Amino acid sequence: GDAPQRERANRGAFSGRSAFIFAAIGSAVGLGNIWRFPAAAYEGGGGAFMIPYLIALLTAGIPLLFVDYAIGHRWRGSAPLAWRRLKRWTEFIGWWQVLICVIIGAYYALIIAWSLNYMVFSVGQKWGDDAEGYFFGQFTHSLMGADAGISFDYVGPVLVTILLVWVAVIITLALGVESGIAKTSMIFIPLLVVMFVILVVRALFLPGAMTGLNALFQPNWAALADPAVWIAAYGQIFFSLSVAFGIMLTYSSYLKKKTDLTGSGLVVGFANSSFEILAGIGVFSALGFMAQAQGVQVQDVVTDGIGLAFIAFPTIISQAPGGALIGVLFFGSLVLAGFTSLVSIIEVIVSAVQDKFGLSRVPGTLVVLLPMAIGSTLLFPTTMGLALLDTLDNFVNSYGIVGAALVSTIALGYIVRGLPTLRDHLNFKGTFRLGIGWETCVKVIAPLVLGVTMVLSAVQLLTA
Ligand code: PHE
Repeated sequence: GDAPQRERANRGAFSGRSAFIFAAIGSAVGLGNIWRFPAAAYEGGGGAFMIPYLIALLTAGIPLLFVDYAIGHRWRGSAPLAWRRLKRWTEFIGWWQVLICVIIGAYYALIIAWSLNYMVFSVGQKWGDDAEGYFFGQFTHSLMGADAGISFDYVGPVLVTILLVWVAVIITLALGVESGIAKTSMIFIPLLVVMFVILVVRALFLPGAMTGLNALFQPNWAALADPAVWIAAYGQIFFSLSVAFGIMLTYSSYLKKKTDLTGSGLVVGFANSSFEILAGIGVFSALGFMAQAQGVQVQDVVTDGIGLAFIAFPTIISQAPGGALIGVLFFGSLVLAGFTSLVSIIEVIVSAVQDKFGLSRVPGTLVVLLPMAIGSTLLFPTTMGLALLDTLDNFVNSYGIVGAALVSTIALGYIVRGLPTLRDHLNFKGTFRLGIGWETCVKVIAPLVLGVTMVLSAVQLLTA
């Protein structure tokens, strides 16, 4: 069927620019800032990584953020509808983004549920002196695929918490754009910053922290000659700013007509990177402590993702004085940062379904979330569910997001040739004027980097 072409009555709106900025920062600041950036920076040349990282931010991250903003704000729709209004055949890009959000959303909900459990576990250090054994053993049981089955330790608490996470998402989204999405971020983000700063300060005073920081910031200039480092910097920036997921597009469709989009984008971009660097300091202070406590080098304990959060950190929590506090702050931060991102991810789906079927907010929220909540709650505790999620997530990260970004920049730059229109729209109320340089970033630099990234991961897949 056809998507409704008339403006949906009552799509919801942000009360103003700061509500939008908080929601956008809430989306951008997520698990990636805390558990992905620190190791990426370390591996990409330490202090020297700041150069490709800042260049990626300025030549692709922020320029693509502006693209998202302009499409959503100019065509005022969910991802599929806004793309469709831009040019009919591009609607599929929007649905592609919706699909990415379904998968990433399921993954985020699970990690938040795990973090909630570990926040409580931190108090009594439930993993004892074997964090790795506990996580792969009792907690997730068969994640490693050792044997099939369901772990009771896992099913009980995780089932309850994952349901809790979904209920919280349902309530937030049903409350709407301003009272739900914006208000949540306006409470959670300041709280997150306070908690995280306390965590970082605590970590800085751990013995060995300085060794960790030296390892992180020690510049390895030779890394700058390695193209893989540049690709990694762009990859981190794309993921971290949540560009090409349809998220920023959806959020900006709720902004008042006369809004300064470019100024807001700069605030969001720099706030996100500042949090990322703060996370690097906190995580490497803790890793420095861990290395010292175990009598090994920092390089031997560097990890990211699930390994960092559910194995390295529990180990640190067990060994550090006042570990329980560190645990509550760390896992609490993952929960807060993750939740505001999850809300933004799910809003892409809800908004698309609302536009497609002409549903108002509460029915739209329920139609999307009840199946997702029930499906993920039933699926996750099984071996197959976790394996499936892991595979899908890997695939989405390597191809889905990069592919969507690549197709949108090529469609915009070379087929639809929509960039001049978008530039005029951005310049209409912007604090500064975007020139031809912005178009070059979107048309040339971004597709080049994205294309090379795609080819490299395909080669990796074929030769693996
Ligand atoms: N930007 C988030 C992060 O850094 C990740 C994210 C991706 C959030 C997509 C929302 C959507 O963790």
